[in-house]
Amino acid sequence: MTNSQQPKISLVTGASSGIGHAIARALAAEGHTVIITARRQERLEELDAPNVVIMAGDLTDSEFQEQVVNTVFDTYGRCDYLFNCAGSIETGAIDTIDVDKMAAMIRLNVEATFRLTYLVLKRFKAQGSGHVINLSSVMGTKVRPTAGAYAATKFAMEALSEALRMELAGTPLKVSCIEPGLVMTELHKDWPVHPKESMGIHHPLTVDNIVDTVKFILQQPEHVRIPKLMILPGDHQI
Ligand SMILES: NC(=O)c1ccc[n+]([C@@H]2O[C@H](COP(=O)([O-])OP(=O)(O)OC[C@H]3O[C@@H](n4cnc5c(N)ncnc54)[C@H](OP(=O)(O)O)[C@@H]3O)[C@@H](O)[C@H]2O)c1
Repeated sequence: MTNSQQPKISLVTGASSGIGHAIARALAAEGHTVIITARRQERLEELDAPNVVIMAGDLTDSEFQEQVVNTVFDTYGRCDYLFNCAGSIETGAIDTIDVDKMAAMIRLNVEATFRLTYLVLKRFKAQGSGHVINLSSVMGTKVRPTAGAYAATKFAMEALSEALRMELAGTPLKVSCIEPGLVMTELHKDWPVHPKESMGIHHPLTVDNIVDTVKFILQQPEHVRIPKLMILPGDHQI
């Protein structure tokens, strides 16, 4: 996935399922040492390979985050890529949404993402290299009824990415923000009606489509930046 023969070190959150899992699997297949994290140890273990390191835990726990970052840099001396894939979705009208689940989503999608980026970015700056790849959403650019809270978390991720793009301009450090439409993962597994049906999306994206997007971003030469990349199913009318 990279234009260098040097083995890369990647930290992937949300790697127990869906997009994070697929990205971690692809990176490992290309020879990266991949540190994978999520809460479900048994699902992380599905990515069993000599160059995959499992660190199970809750990313909303700031001590766990520090433990992950310290382990990565103490063990390998550096990290090349941070993939912020962990995320959840909670929908509902603003006055009827489950407010505690909404707050948990905000803690994960916003606070945990900002905090981990804060921790890793300091290390990236110290080593003089590094690339943050944020899994935002098309909902980071648009709002629809019942998705105000989720969209707000993704707007926050867009703001993080945009500020980083400007703050890192002129340095070797990179930030990219991927904005997918509907992808078939476990994100909507508890929904009574899958958005595929309710939104009439007959051919949603696959995780492989997102892996291809990541490959495109990582293959760019040093001087090229891909700050944002939206990827949609052809019949996703939004
Ligand atoms: N699927 C889509 O249609 C779509 C579209 C646009 C953007 N996205 C974004 O893409 C990202 C990945 O979503 P996905 O579709 O791959 O969903 P997914 O299959 O549900 O994966 C979510 C990942 O986040 C992890 N996670 C959840 N809560 C966590 C916590 N408290 N601490 C640590 N890890 C936690 C989950 O692992 P554990 O449960 O094991 O902790 C899982 O690995 C999300 O940010 C999502 O918003 C998805």
